[in-house]
This record gives sequence, C-alpha cells and structure tokens, in this order.
Amino acid sequence: MKSVYIVGFMGAGKTTVSEALKAKLECQVVDVDHYIVEKEGRTIAEIFERDGEAFFRDLEHRYLKEITTEDVIVSTGGGMFAEERNRTFIKENGISIYLHADWNEIRSRIQGDTGRPLVQEHSLDGLQSLLEKRRPFYEQADFTVDTTGRTVEDICTEVLGLI
Ligand code: S3P
Repeated sequence: MKSVYIVGFMGAGKTTVSEALKAKLECQVVDVDHYIVEKEGRTIAEIFERDGEAFFRDLEHRYLKEITTEDVIVSTGGGMFAEERNRTFIKENGISIYLHADWNEIRSRIQGDTGRPLVQEHSLDGLQSLLEKRRPFYEQADFTVDTTGRTVEDICTEVLGLI
C-alpha cells in the first residue's frame, strides 16, 4: 500500500481517524507531532517557545522525509500541508486525504487547548482566518472527506473506500 497522509486543520480529527484506520488496516500509524516530540525530547510547545515556528517547520519537513513511505498512515500536523515543500513530498510519495470539519466544530475542539502553541498565540478570529488561509492548500489533497457531524466509524468507511 502507498502511504496515506491525513491532512487538515487542528481539531479536524486527524489523530483519531488515523488510529481508527490503524485498527482496520493493521498497518503502522505515525503521528508526525509525536514523532517530533520523541526525536527532539521536548514538547511542541517547548520547541515553539524556545526556537520559534520557522525552526519547527524545518523540523516537520525533515522528519516527514525520514518517515517510511510504504504501508504507513501518516497523521500530519495542521500546518504540514500548507507548506509547498511538504505537499510536493506527499504528492510524490503517497495519497493525501484532507479531513474537513466546519469552523464551529473545530473551534469547540481546540478552544482553550494549552498544548497547541498556535491556539495559545491566536484569538479565535485569528485561528479562523488561519483556517481560511490554509483551506486552499488542504483542498489540493487527493481527496476531501467531510467529518462534520459524522462518527469515526463512518469517516473510516469512506476513507477505506478511497485508498
Ligand atoms: C500546528 C498543528 C499542530 C502542531 C503544531 C502546529 C499547526 O498539530 O503540528 O502545534 O500549524 O496547525 P495538530 O493539527 O495535530 O494539532
């Protein structure tokens, strides 16, 4: 199987859906954020705080390339597919699936989250603008799956039909 890259904004359900797919496909799942934390020995918040976002983006790209591109589901961070270098790599190496959720659903999932630096840095309006800014990039994924108001089971069934 070609690797499957799950993309989309924070709170779209990327990690949850990837874990559910893992059980069904019996394949490996790599969550890029977890991978970075493991490799760097510090949290995403600590990386942002000490070294800044640009440094984090370089790490993201470096580790994306390090993760195997076969038989794996890769759950990406919300900013991953907004960067051209990452889109290019993903397009060349696997299938990309954009998990879309509407702003109200995303907001209720991420509001007050202390582990996500961008949620700490931005107002809710700022986060909504960021989502709108990134949406055209997410829409360049091979497939879009709407998750709004749907169960994980239902979303997985649709994803499995695409890959
Ligand atoms: C980010 C999303 C986060 C994480 C980092 C930056 C973003 O991942 O990579 O905090 O730029 O949207 P999740 O989408 O898994 O929360």
